[in-house]
Amino acid sequence: MNIEKHSRRKFLQLTATGVGLSLVYLWDKMMGNRLLAAAHKKIVLPLTHNIVSFYRDFLVINQKHKTKVLSSHCTHLGCIINKVENGRLICPCHGSEFDLNGNAVKGPAYKSLPSIPFKIDKTTRQIIIQSPTS
Ligand code: FES
Repeated sequence: MNIEKHSRRKFLQLTATGVGLSLVYLWDKMMGNRLLAAAHKKIVLPLTHNIVSFYRDFLVINQKHKTKVLSSHCTHLGCIINKVENGRLICPCHGSEFDLNGNAVKGPAYKSLPSIPFKIDKTTRQIIIQSPTS
């Protein structure tokens, strides 16, 4: 009787752990796929002199004469980062903070914001983000 109860508890614990891990895996996969889908389109953004420009899926950072493009999706649960304060990018949902290189500096997010490959068309002053295969 006691062994049966212990086995049932163990079974339920293992099942719950398995379901939890599967959900984390699926969430991570979904976020990665959403970013990949965005990267497979050709997206043109204006090249400005702003230190940070916010777009739906991207952040354009100009710092020390260098431009970089980061995903605007917070690596915690995917909220759109839409604020910069004291040189930190701030997620409105749970307060994660990232430096201007995209490194997570305050949780709950612990992963950096992914860098997005891009080209600059100096003639038109545009940032072009496109699939690496096109
Ligand atoms: S989604 Fe950004 S901190 Fe939670």
